[in-house]
Amino acid sequence: MARALTSDFAPIGLPAKGVLIVFCNPDLKFGPATVRLLRPTLDLIRRAAAADRFAGKSGSALDIVAPAGLKVSRLIVLGVGKPEDAKTEAKTDTKTNAKPRDFVRLGGVAMGRVPGRESEVAIVAETGSGPMTPDEAADLALGAMLRAYAFERYKTKTKEGEERAKSVALTVGTARPADARKAWRTRQPVADGVVIARDLVNEPPNVLSPVEFARRASALRKAGVGIEILDERAMKRLGMHALLGVGQGSERESRIVIMRWNGGRRSQPPIAFIGKGVCFDAGGISIKPAAGMEDMKGDMAGAACVVGLMHALAGRKAKVNAVGAIGLVENMPDGNAQRPGDIVTSMSGQTVEIINTDAEGRLVLADVLWHVAKKFKPRAMIDLATLTGAIIVALGQEYAGLFANDDELAARLSAAGETTGEKVWRMPLAPEYDKLIDSKFADMKNTGGRYGGAITAAQFLQRFVGKTPWAHLDIAGTGMGSPSTDINRSWGSGFGVRLLDRLVADNYEA
Ligand code: BES
Ligand code: MN
Ligand code: ZN
Repeated sequence: MARALTSDFAPIGLPAKGVLIVFCNPDLKFGPATVRLLRPTLDLIRRAAAADRFAGKSGSALDIVAPAGLKVSRLIVLGVGKPEDAKTEAKTDTKTNAKPRDFVRLGGVAMGRVPGRESEVAIVAETGSGPMTPDEAADLALGAMLRAYAFERYKTKTKEGEERAKSVALTVGTARPADARKAWRTRQPVADGVVIARDLVNEPPNVLSPVEFARRASALRKAGVGIEILDERAMKRLGMHALLGVGQGSERESRIVIMRWNGGRRSQPPIAFIGKGVCFDAGGISIKPAAGMEDMKGDMAGAACVVGLMHALAGRKAKVNAVGAIGLVENMPDGNAQRPGDIVTSMSGQTVEIINTDAEGRLVLADVLWHVAKKFKPRAMIDLATLTGAIIVALGQEYAGLFANDDELAARLSAAGETTGEKVWRMPLAPEYDKLIDSKFADMKNTGGRYGGAITAAQFLQRFVGKTPWAHLDIAGTGMGSPSTDINRSWGSGFGVRLLDRLVADNYEA
């Protein structure tokens, strides 16, 4: 579980304790409200800046402990560079200001300067160029919240000097607190959704079984999300033997959870999100090597994202009908496990020859995609999966792989990626790749050979979506084992929650 994080907005004023963070442009250029606020200590700041050669360059900071004239324990002056820097960094060609992701990032940078033991943080939402808009102030808070996240549930000891606050309360100072609070109302559920996703990904696999995952997803009921859980009996009745075959080597039962948020017009078909939820991927009989196998607790990052996203959509009362569906299994070797050479019949009726039991994610998704397409006839269907090591070889950990049978959907996802900073890069689908998964004995096989592994995996999924506009995000590189960024220090990044929330907000709301 993450430590408790709260965020509020208040008129700009001097806090009585904790850490105070202000922004400045080069040459110690503060905004007018900041100048007024810091008056008792401006001289001290000037001397400290001169002594430290602090010029207000982007990302640089002046850290003053127990500043005379203020009551706070620490004053941090954070440089934001020249006003136009933000724009060039965002690579925006419009005349508008910086993108939301820049303020989110700035909030992360600010929170990153706060020592872990501090539980109260105040940030003034103003730069040398003037006050931030309510949206910008709320984005700032979002970034700070995401940066403050830490998964510490299983830490019972702290090393000396590394004490950490159990909770962090952030106050953003702004001239328009009421408007900023309103802007925050659409962001808080998104921040919480990211936290939900990160917690799920970080949780160990002994604790987070498919049944336990389903139980935690059911908590969305409180937010007004309809929950339906399919157990193995229900899946058998539906003929989901591709998914069931993966789970059959585990002592733990498989589950599918279907989440529904109906915030749109009754007649509007839903947009559907499908997540791979392999709670632990040992590889099955085609067992993985020992080194790094512990990371395969994160093989449910797609499912975690869908849960976090549904929380976000419901929490901000998105005017959209949305379905979330997650396939929860554990892929284990066992006397009863599925074998290479087995042929299973998927819910669609198509048969699959199992070549490698470690290519299990596509088998799980095949039945969930088919079920969702048939049952809900969605206007679009997007799946997220830590599907292949090959996508990490291709794109590293910066971009998720994007595959789509629909150019408009792909373009919308790319745009949402640019706005949020959760970036996606489109990869090809083509009949020549599809051929590679034809099987001698069945309709298809579950691997396509050494080359283009992320693509043949996507081709496999495409055989289960029919004509539904569909996109697949391979998040093996971005959803887990994530490199540290300004807004994420967590192993599980929660990748996809902000991306898809933005996709919905920009394209699918009434
Ligand atoms: N869950 C893995 C993919 C993965 C690898 C995710 C590394 C995150 C980090 C997936 O189930 C898998 O094992 N894929 C195989 C497919 C192969 C057997 C065709 C892979 O990528 O090696
Ligand atoms: Mn696998
Ligand atoms: Zn897997």
